[in-house]
Amino acid sequence: MVHLHKQQNFCYALLLFVALAIVYARKSDEVSFQQNYKVVWGNHHVFFLQHGREVQLSIDKTSGAGFRSKLEYASGFFHMRIKIPNKDSRGVVTAFYLTSTVYEGMGEKHDEIDFEFLGNNGEPHMLQTNIFANDEGGREQRHSLWFDPTIDFHTYGLLWNQHQIVFYVDEIPIRVFKNNSEVGVSFPLQEMHVTASIWNGEPWASNGKRIDWNQAPFTAHFEGFNIHACQTQNHYKFLCYSPYLWWNDHKHWQLNPHQQKAYQYVTKKHLVYDYCSDRGQLHKECQIN
Ligand SMILES: *[C@@H]1O[C@H](CO)[C@@H](O)[C@H](O)[C@H]1NC(C)=O
Repeated sequence: MVHLHKQQNFCYALLLFVALAIVYARKSDEVSFQQNYKVVWGNHHVFFLQHGREVQLSIDKTSGAGFRSKLEYASGFFHMRIKIPNKDSRGVVTAFYLTSTVYEGMGEKHDEIDFEFLGNNGEPHMLQTNIFANDEGGREQRHSLWFDPTIDFHTYGLLWNQHQIVFYVDEIPIRVFKNNSEVGVSFPLQEMHVTASIWNGEPWASNGKRIDWNQAPFTAHFEGFNIHACQTQNHYKFLCYSPYLWWNDHKHWQLNPHQQKAYQYVTKKHLVYDYCSDRGQLHKECQIN
């Protein structure tokens, strides 16, 4: 009898453990900032809200601010919920990106995958994306957004596996960059940090106009600090290419037909600038599509 009781208790304990694990897994998208990220510049311009589940970065004449993941990653599905400054913020850039470490003496050559919101003054909001692949980038695209990104949080996502990089805005793929390294196209392969920042992008981000500092501070809000990605700190990078990681699964090697349709629609309606039409001769990927 006593023995049976013990077994029963054990079963209850196990059930409780499983139940808690499920609850934890569901809640895990609400991890606090500190768990995965740290502030790397502009400490006085960073504010924590909602017990660290929301972070506000601000910029004024004295400084902008930025944060970055504690670890580096080599594949994953990265995402952040972002709300950008709700003022006439021309010249102010809010950014969410992956970047490899730039070592001294390397020049500007590194890997980087960016979302950059170019602040504006009343026109439709522009989202610029760019990719660096052990080079100096220069792969800008600009999309006009079909909503006002200053009013609500929207989710900006980056899928990065061995086959493709996909930029998502609220689940809609707006840009796809294929791994065509077999035909000599560069593709990001270095470990990268996840980074977010608000900074002074004048004059390039403002068409030469000045930031209106009378409107300062400009503030951007970030949420969603969970990271679904393969970190490289404790193991070899090739493990990040494992097909058992869901973002590497072969259904993520290309867009599905539904995504393909949405992607074509967005490209047709919202792509307002593409480096391939401008400097395509400098980039091999522009010549094969
Ligand atoms: C790109 O694809 C090639 C195979 O075509 C593969 O060997 C390589 O690892 C891929 N690069 C990255 C960074 O995943």
